[in-house]
Amino acid sequence: MQTVTTLRPGVAADTDPSDVGRLVQEDRVHAQVYTDPAIFAMEMERIFERAWIFMAHESQLPRAGDFVTTRIGRQPIIVVRDSKGRINVLYNRCPHRGALLCREPEGNVHHFACPYHGWSFRTTGEITGVPFRSGYPEEFLKNEDLSMARVARVENYRGFIFASIAEHGPTLIEFMGPLKDGLDNLLDRSPTGEIEVSAGVHQYAYKGNWKMQMENGLDEYHPPFSHASTVKPDGQQVQRSYGAKGGFKVLAGSDPNQADARSHYDHGEVHGARYGQAYLTIPDATRRSELEDPAYRAMLIERHGEQKALALIANSNMSNAVFYPSVIMRVTGNMHIRVVRPVSVGLTEVLVWPIRIKGVADNINDGIIRYANVHVSVSSFVQTDDLEVFERVYEGLQAGKPEWVMLARGMGMDWEGPYPDEKVGLATWETGMRAQFRYWKELMTENKP
Ligand code: FES
Ligand SMILES: [Fe+2]
Repeated sequence: MQTVTTLRPGVAADTDPSDVGRLVQEDRVHAQVYTDPAIFAMEMERIFERAWIFMAHESQLPRAGDFVTTRIGRQPIIVVRDSKGRINVLYNRCPHRGALLCREPEGNVHHFACPYHGWSFRTTGEITGVPFRSGYPEEFLKNEDLSMARVARVENYRGFIFASIAEHGPTLIEFMGPLKDGLDNLLDRSPTGEIEVSAGVHQYAYKGNWKMQMENGLDEYHPPFSHASTVKPDGQQVQRSYGAKGGFKVLAGSDPNQADARSHYDHGEVHGARYGQAYLTIPDATRRSELEDPAYRAMLIERHGEQKALALIANSNMSNAVFYPSVIMRVTGNMHIRVVRPVSVGLTEVLVWPIRIKGVADNINDGIIRYANVHVSVSSFVQTDDLEVFERVYEGLQAGKPEWVMLARGMGMDWEGPYPDEKVGLATWETGMRAQFRYWKELMTENKP
């Protein structure tokens, strides 16, 4: 796994926050929020440095010394397990003169050694060696904290590690809101209560803004059109999931322009809640056909008892769980963790880790990985359509007119959900994106603490 793009210097965040608020209205946002480098720089500071950002799954770091490198916004980060088994989230920067301490995306180390002047650090971040130390005043070595800096807050929810640069703010559980239930459902569907991220990673970049992927994770309006190449004339999309026979129906009727035509996707719902958290629910059993497997069912019944196991299966409706601002998780069917890493206003990396369920037969996990391969890999039938569309949107938005991007679908028709500030709509509505932008506006316009 190699980082596919390099960071570039950003433009200073000097846009007046009160002006930014003007660019987001309830039913529309200005094209500038996707194209302006100054707004991007503000987003990195005001959104990515305040929110909880997904770092890694615990199973990626099973042994002492295992690490992964990632970013919070544009800040380079190392996530590493130390010799006592604790997971540390550290800034990937040498405290001497600033060199990146580790460029590898993942690996195992005894300690981190800086390639510039050889300072070294334990996997806790503690400084352990300063070459030729007699050249420093004793007082300096005694008084100065020369260890790697730690990210302010780290939380591990059932193996999912998130970090936040902000010292204060909502807890991870408060921040996740309804998405915690999606993670619980995913983990409870494992006969051991655990999942594993051990099937490698798909990674690619697109020439477009990061929000395009985060919005697309909630967009069930587009599949019959963007993904037309995988839709048969009867509206069935090709079989993708383990055990599925007929493929997914994507369109009710053959002509979407008839006045009474409805997308088949509107049998699902989109939910948008506090902190920009949003998700899709799809009551389509073909998406989680692995749960029909008798041996798998028997294991769940053994773990939870029949009543709870059947309820768990029946409630496995959360499809995309879109954790604002940085990760989309598929918690049913094509289970994966899809990290969205902004590089610049018009360049975004996507990294997709398939999820394996611990304790089930290999053919079930093989099916999940195959499904990820055809859906979200760089050679997939589906995500490749989306990447092309993101680039087209970014190019299209360079046109000065019209100025606005419309988010009015389902406007005023959505209804209250059970979670704080939650609104619910039919799956093709833009309810989830409106929730994302409500939080975006709140963070981008509030006075700094
Ligand atoms: S910059 Fe790391 S040792 Fe000098
Ligand atoms: Fe898509």
